[in-house]
Order: sequence, then C-alpha cells, then structure tokens
Amino acid sequence: MSSERLIIGAAQLGQPYGRGARRPPEPDEVGRWLAAAATADVAGIDTARAYGDSEAMIGAARAGAESGPAAATGERPTEAAGPVPIVTKIRPLTEFDAGAAPQEVERAVRASLLASLTALRTATIDTLLLHRAGDLRAGSGRPITVLDDLRRDGLIGRWGVSLGSPAELIDALDVPGLGYVQLPYNLLDRRWCAPEVEAALAARPEVMVAARSAYLQGILVDPLARHWPGPRPADAAELAERLSGLGRELGRQSLRDLALGYVLGQAWVDAVVVGARSAEQIADAARLVGNPPLTATEIARARAELPAGPLDLVDPARWPPAPDRPFEKG
Ligand SMILES: NC(=O)c1ccc[n+]([C@@H]2O[C@H](COP(=O)([O-])OP(=O)(O)OC[C@H]3O[C@@H](n4cnc5c(N)ncnc54)[C@H](OP(=O)(O)O)[C@@H]3O)[C@@H](O)[C@H]2O)c1
Repeated sequence: MSSERLIIGAAQLGQPYGRGARRPPEPDEVGRWLAAAATADVAGIDTARAYGDSEAMIGAARAGAESGPAAATGERPTEAAGPVPIVTKIRPLTEFDAGAAPQEVERAVRASLLASLTALRTATIDTLLLHRAGDLRAGSGRPITVLDDLRRDGLIGRWGVSLGSPAELIDALDVPGLGYVQLPYNLLDRRWCAPEVEAALAARPEVMVAARSAYLQGILVDPLARHWPGPRPADAAELAERLSGLGRELGRQSLRDLALGYVLGQAWVDAVVVGARSAEQIADAARLVGNPPLTATEIARARAELPAGPLDLVDPARWPPAPDRPFEKG
C-alpha cells in the first residue's frame, strides 16, 4: 500500500494536544504508531521542535525499530519499509524580528536543527520548515540563506515554511529556494480560492503543498461530540446534518472520507497532513486517501451546501489556548 498523498501529523505525540485533552500515546505505543506509518508507506511524518517530546518519541521509536524485533502487531517493521521521511520545524523564532542580528538568528536556526537531529536520532532531515511565515524575514532574512546552505551541504533534502494565511503564502512563494509549504485547509475554509492565490501557486509548481487540519481537529468528523474553540455554536447541529447529507449525496464512506476527499480534490494540494494519536487512526487515514478525491463538480456542490467558516474557526492555530481539562477517554 502506498499513501503518497498522506503525511501523518505528530503534534499528538509527546504532549497533550487538541481541545479534547486526549491522553498522548505512551512511549511504548509510539513503536506501533511508527510501524503503522511505515506499513502505509506514507509520504512523511510531520513533527516540530515545538511539539513537546514528539521528536524524541519518534527518535526512540526509530532506534527501537532498527535494533529490536518488530512488535507482534502484524505491521511491517519500519526498517523493512525504509525509514519514513521526516518533516520537522525549526523552533519558532519569536524573539527575532527583521532588524535582529543575522548571526544570532543563524545560531538559533542551526542550534534548533542540531537539537532535532539529536532527538530524532538521524543524520539528515528530509524536509525542514520554519514554523511561522514571519520567521522567513527574521534577521534580514538570514534563515533563507542558512536553509539554502544546509540543503547544499546535504543536511536537509529541502526546506519550506508552515503558514496560516493566503497573504503569507503569496509572500513565501516569492522566495527562491523554497520547496515546501504547509497550510490549513478544510471544507469550511474558502480563503484559498482567490485567483491571486491560485496564480501564485501555479507560478511555483515545484513547491510541494501540504494541507493540515482537514478534520479541523475532529470537529468536521463529529461536530456534536467535539470540543469547539469556545462554546459550541447554535448551528452545530445544522452543520452536522449538512455534512452527513452531503457525504451521502456524494457517496462518501464517512465524514472523514468527505473531509479528505475534499482537500485532496484541489489540484494545488499535493498531500494532506492528518494528525493521529494511534496506529488505528493512521491505518484509517491511509485507507481513505486511497479513495478517489472529489471532482471539481463535487467540490462546487460542497461549497454551495456548506457555509464558509469564520476566520477564527478555520485555522486551529488561531484558536485560543484550550482550557485545562482532565484527560478524556478514547
Ligand atoms: N505548523 C503549524 O502551525 C501546525 C499547526 C497545527 C497542526 N500542525 C500539524 O498538522 C497536523 C494535523 O493538524 P491537526 O491535528 O490540527 O488537525 P486534524 O488532522 O484536522 O485533526 C487531527 C485529529 O482528528 C482526530 N482523528 C484522526 N483520525 C481519526 C479517526 N480515524 N477517527 C476519529 N477522529 C480522528 C484525532 O482527534 P483525537 O486526538 O481527539 O482522537 C486527531 O487528533 C498536526 O499533527 C501537526 O503535525 C501544524
């Protein structure tokens, strides 16, 4: 099975994540998680310096897969499949603005990469991203030069940036050397349909586009059972009905299948980043990305049926911090 348009999000490892305060997997479960990603032959695992112990847990699981016998789970051991490509991110360069000393910024980028290599127990990184669009311009744009140098030296395969808005995307696509962008995109997010966004993307066909938050952290796959960022809106029940009706009309297997089919139906989206806490969620996403994506006609039907979501909903990075809750089941 190859899931060349699926990347598994690893923010769910090594830290409590999401509105539901779900318990992160125990370290010994991460071996199964990684084996499921290898078995599905996914295009990558998406982690970050800023995701708590995520990189360290992946690194420990990779080392375990190389040295120990495969867990008796039926999954293919990771080394048999070849290591799953890693996407990781430089720690957010929040303390540096455009006027910061370039040497200081360079030191911070290199120190973050070194920490990632150590935690992930690897000598090279397939894709290295800046965590925020603003970091491209820190210290007179020194991160761009450093990332180009790291690629030339063979420490990274390509570099890119994680961003949150069409304006940030258009700005990033102006930067030579950029090879990858990650952005939020889902059934309720209409911001990326603007002609200027499509033109900017069309001018850089070599840049890989990975879309995150297709499930809107679970809201789009079960709107009534999930915690919303704030009180659940009065029209959540109507959204649930519309989603279910649309899924039935378009012959999708589930709301997850609808959410992934919609995102992957966009010609400019190369891959979807699905956050997963368990091996079962990885296997489910891998099965669903094998289904045909929505056609242009079906996408137009979805847009006619579903309301455009407000800006503060469609990008989880804009959500207020989740309240402290005891861990939930599941
Ligand atoms: N660069 C950035 O600024 C940034 C920001 C956010 C995320 N990301 C990356 O993008 C990834 C994905 O984004 P995301 O986590 O925000 O959103 P997402 O992929 O839309 O949602 C992930 C959540 O969906 C639920 N889910 C997954 N499979 C499921 C299944 N089979 N059945 C039911 N529920 C299922 C899980 O919720 P439960 O955990 O409740 O089971 C999971 O945590 C992250 O892991 C991270 O790698 C990057």
